[in-house]
Amino acid sequence: MEKQETDRRMKHIHPVFDQIMGREEKERLLNQRGLVLWFTGLSGSGKTTIARHVERELAAEGLLTQVLDGDNIRTGINSNLGFSEEDRQENIRRIAEVSRLFLQCGVVTLACAISPTRRMRAMAREIISAEDFLEVFVDTPLGVCEARDVKGLYRKARAGEIRNFTGIDAAFEAPPNPDIHIRTEERPLGECVRMVLDAVRSRVR
Ligand code: ADX
Repeated sequence: MEKQETDRRMKHIHPVFDQIMGREEKERLLNQRGLVLWFTGLSGSGKTTIARHVERELAAEGLLTQVLDGDNIRTGINSNLGFSEEDRQENIRRIAEVSRLFLQCGVVTLACAISPTRRMRAMAREIISAEDFLEVFVDTPLGVCEARDVKGLYRKARAGEIRNFTGIDAAFEAPPNPDIHIRTEERPLGECVRMVLDAVRSRVR
């Protein structure tokens, strides 16, 4: 949306930030601190799989979490979005805004979306705030994702049945400086999960 258009729409909006029940009080209630883990990586790289296992482990430790993933969110609030650069940017903006709401509630939020460009991830970080944001790069080579092709989408993309497919005819910019860099090929799932858990535990208690 153009800035002018946004300004016009915001003119008569009066957000209330001094809530009676603020983030800190909610965090005390939950006995944890909110945090957003932002999982980025190719389709089929394992983002959601790792996040779901992390969620299980954290639940066993009494921590409340929420997994948000592109595939699911695109069937709900983002059902009007496709895969053009512009739609992806909007997809990421909304996922980041929803993550922020969970964060304000003290929930450990695991957002999983390809988020293929630096610009998109920088926007997500900005919406959420740098101190509450951990970038997790699920680094699985294209060849591996394509060989697995769990959803059969790489085959369709190669056949030209799907356009703008990340890694095939749309770019993925690897994060140069992720907070957690998981090279999934080099370690079993349990170790990938542990890498995330190690980074999370000290921050949320
Ligand atoms: S993102 O690029 O906007 O961050 P997101 O993570 O929400 O993508 O959705 C990616 C999922 O949508 C993929 O895992 C795949 O199942 C599906 N998908 C359908 N079309 C495409 C496409 N053109 N590029 C990438 N993923 C696609």
